[in-house]
Amino acid sequence: MGGRGVLGVVATATDGVETLRTGLVGPALALGWQVAVTLTPTAGRWLRANGELDRLETLTGLPVRDSPRLPAEPRPHPVADCYVVAPASANYVAKLATGIADNQALTQVGEALGTIGVPVVVFPRINAAHARHPAWEGHLGTLRGAGVDLVYGPDVWPLYEPRRGPAVRELPWTAILDRAAVRAQGNGAFPEGPA
Ligand SMILES: Cc1cc2nc3c(=O)[nH]c(=O)nc-3n(C[C@H](O)[C@H](O)[C@H](O)COP(=O)(O)O)c2cc1C
Repeated sequence: MGGRGVLGVVATATDGVETLRTGLVGPALALGWQVAVTLTPTAGRWLRANGELDRLETLTGLPVRDSPRLPAEPRPHPVADCYVVAPASANYVAKLATGIADNQALTQVGEALGTIGVPVVVFPRINAAHARHPAWEGHLGTLRGAGVDLVYGPDVWPLYEPRRGPAVRELPWTAILDRAAVRAQGNGAFPEGPA
């Protein structure tokens, strides 16, 4: 187990998710985290297709989860001390804020929102149109109210209109990882959960 504890990394189907290993998982391991990766079903399809899912498993030494376990199966991941959802799609943010838990990536983090002592950091990888959806600000307010640390705003992720942003945009991995380190400091309670 890494000296910093277990970082539950949850990723969704957005542009940039293909850099999850090099941008977030590898650097987190180097900083002393044990990393357990969970993907939404769509992100699982994407990363399985390009070989990244296998590479993530080799790197972390743990299975990458993109589906729930059977009731009789053991939990494939250790209990997370901190969750990072990055990149989070607009779809994922909306579902998390409204309590929907219809895949493993949502189940874990939704439960963490109600678990004392487990910090949650979320990076919404969205565009200007997503942010203008009438429910968007409400979703962010709900998550902030639940103690979620949002990596969000023009300093970390300026919003562009759909299909108008730079062709290649690196996700703000360093800011995301720094936020997890700060939030996990002093977090000593790791309650068991059903995930
Ligand atoms: C190539 C491609 C890139 C996408 N990029 C984004 C994105 O950057 N942000 C976003 O919110 N949705 C993006 N989407 C849409 C999501 O993939 C879609 O909403 C999906 O249902 C999200 O599923 P998930 O939240 O379960 O991973 C993209 C879709 C495709 C096909």
